[in-house]
Amino acid sequence: MRFLSVRLIVSLIVGITLVTLAFSYNEVHAQKEGLRRDLERRAEVLAESMAGNVEPYLQKGSRRELQRIVERFGNREHLDGVAIYDKQGALVAITSGLAPLLNGQPSVVAEAISQDHGAGQFTRLDKASVVHVYALPLHSGETVVGSMAIVHDASYINTQSARIWRETFVRVLVQVFLIALITLLIVRWSIVGPIAKAAQWMRALRMGRGGVTSAPPDSDLLRPLTREMETIARSLTAARSAAEKEAQLRDAGESLWTAERLSAHMRSRLGEHRIFVVSNREPYSHTRKGKSLEVVVPPSGLVTALEPILCACDGTWIAHGSGDADQETVDQHDHLRAPPEDPRYTLRRVWLSKEEEEGYYFGFANEGLWPLCHIAHARPIFRASDWNHYRAVNQKFADAVLEEMEGTERPLLLAQDYHFALLPRLIKLKRPDVRVAIFWHIPWPNAEMFSICPYQRELVEGLLGADLVGFHIQQHCNNFLETVDRTLESRIDWEHFSVTRDEHRTAVKPFPISVAFEETPQHQPESAYSDRVTLLHDLGVSATFLGVGVDRVDYTKGILERFLAIERLLEKYPTYQEKFTFIQIGAPSRTHIKRYHDLLGEVEAEADRINWRFQRGTWRPIALLKWHHTHQEIQRYYRVADLCLVTSLHDGMNLVAKEFLAARFDEQGVLILSQFTGAARELRDALIVNPYNIEQTAEAIRFALEMPAEERQARMQKMRRTIKENNVYRWAANLIVELSEVNLTPGYMQGNNEERRQAAAVGLTADPSQADR
Ligand code: G6P
Repeated sequence: MRFLSVRLIVSLIVGITLVTLAFSYNEVHAQKEGLRRDLERRAEVLAESMAGNVEPYLQKGSRRELQRIVERFGNREHLDGVAIYDKQGALVAITSGLAPLLNGQPSVVAEAISQDHGAGQFTRLDKASVVHVYALPLHSGETVVGSMAIVHDASYINTQSARIWRETFVRVLVQVFLIALITLLIVRWSIVGPIAKAAQWMRALRMGRGGVTSAPPDSDLLRPLTREMETIARSLTAARSAAEKEAQLRDAGESLWTAERLSAHMRSRLGEHRIFVVSNREPYSHTRKGKSLEVVVPPSGLVTALEPILCACDGTWIAHGSGDADQETVDQHDHLRAPPEDPRYTLRRVWLSKEEEEGYYFGFANEGLWPLCHIAHARPIFRASDWNHYRAVNQKFADAVLEEMEGTERPLLLAQDYHFALLPRLIKLKRPDVRVAIFWHIPWPNAEMFSICPYQRELVEGLLGADLVGFHIQQHCNNFLETVDRTLESRIDWEHFSVTRDEHRTAVKPFPISVAFEETPQHQPESAYSDRVTLLHDLGVSATFLGVGVDRVDYTKGILERFLAIERLLEKYPTYQEKFTFIQIGAPSRTHIKRYHDLLGEVEAEADRINWRFQRGTWRPIALLKWHHTHQEIQRYYRVADLCLVTSLHDGMNLVAKEFLAARFDEQGVLILSQFTGAARELRDALIVNPYNIEQTAEAIRFALEMPAEERQARMQKMRRTIKENNVYRWAANLIVELSEVNLTPGYMQGNNEERRQAAAVGLTADPSQADR
């Protein structure tokens, strides 16, 4: 709209200026002509009146008298002087001031003598001065005896024209400014205002508020559109309710899970319950790019899974505000509405100091717990100071969660991941009526391994504050239960997989996370062939076969082992030299930690070494793309690759494997998958490898490249079916349904009869009579 007004104003200014200038040009021209005519007339009159005085003296040849006459007339306004010539054109008398100016005889003098009538001309004497010369024949009786030239200075005509131009310019300027201003005001009042109101109305309609119930804004200008807007509103509302109904039907029919079905399911299931999510990474962060703000969505499946739930019941997501412009975009309660393009839930940002982030996130979570839980032979580091920060930050987040829950009855809380092991207990101690689940996105090692953590007791106790603890696979649940068994006094029910401690029961269950799955691509890709040609061209590589790997550069991902397997393939099967290229997309991650920083260098050095050994011409074995790619950008690589390599040394689930399958609408491509990923339990049709076994992985790559198309398709179809059915929406639904069905146990109400009574009143299983004993 602003662009339109600017265009309108600019066109107006140009138009008005051109028209005014055309008129002014005419005016100046006419004025100039008038002044010239006026001068010519004055010259003629002067010449006529002088002729009578001059002629007798010319006949007599009285030069002195003639000189006296020309001197007398020489000082009139604008008159440069008078000159008198005899019949032959020789000068007889001339005003003394004129003599130095006049260079020879003006041509009109001869013309006047030969034609016997007056003649005038404008001419230049030098560069600066313009003069008008008028010549009149002089007579003796009927005979021409000479001529008189009257010379006027005509420069004042140009000076006056220039002044008129100047005045016109200023007038045009003032006019243009006033007209533009008035037009702008008119446009604002009568066009922009109504259009903005209409846009607001349409936005409300799009977001499901207002619409047909409120009429579109009325204005003369928009009247033709208003009727159409009403029709669109009606159709949209009808389509929405149809989609909702369909989602409900599908829900009842237990078919595929979609974002819409998840929303509908949650609305009917949760009723009054409100949902709260707490995670370290926020779903949207804001960063400053020059003068504008940019919204960044982290490359995490969590946002896809949890947003439909939060949107369905206007929930609250509490997370660390880590963007450099995050503080600028929240209100006084550190809130903002999300998603940005269609706000339906609240994001509450929690601020951490540099020291807190260093100790809690980089230190305890990522140098302690991360290597502790992943068996990747990186030694965990446990610093007492990091632990203190971890505890304090868990408390800080718990306080924020409790603050957000104030006044909400029986809320549900979904805590995410190893950053918040202590938070479930902290919440329960204050609000026993909250149903708390924590989902642990990384593996849980065996009890022996976990026991090296000096704080294992507090961590396990913290987690057992939850009513539900979720892992990706049963194996991690078992490991957790064994750890509990070894660490704390509790009762473990191995049949139903739960722990009871101090009268509080925690269920421990697997919920394998997944990706969103679409039957058809959102954007129709080019043909696989032309896609591959452009991609290789962009990379500046020529190759016949392509492999792809997508990872955060993390030591658990087995990137170096993968490179060794590629080297081994080329060594063992030289026919793949100059043919097979592996594209490694490696997003730098947690580089503030030395181990990660060093790894980035090691990965680069290894790729260089292998490339140096084999590369020829425009072919090279490894193309390392060491920067963050968006989900959309990665799709392009998944779609053209002959194989995808996932060689994690240990991974809770690994969503890259599932993303690759979801991207293969053509049902081609082979997945090579580490046996140490959670995904390997579900995706049995992948080529399962031990990433430490370089020989085996190299063979798997060759096997994948040589696999017959029918087998490739059959394997891909089966795996795609698996993730279609078990997509991320099912994961979220299972988690929430399980949590909402949890029977709250009295554990955290011990010793507080009043709380226990209240708990009984809100449906907890605590028995107030027991509490009195
Ligand atoms: C793992 C963790 C997530 C984490 C992600 C990215 O998948 O389980 O909690 O968000 O890595 O790591 P970052 O530290 O950058 O959030």
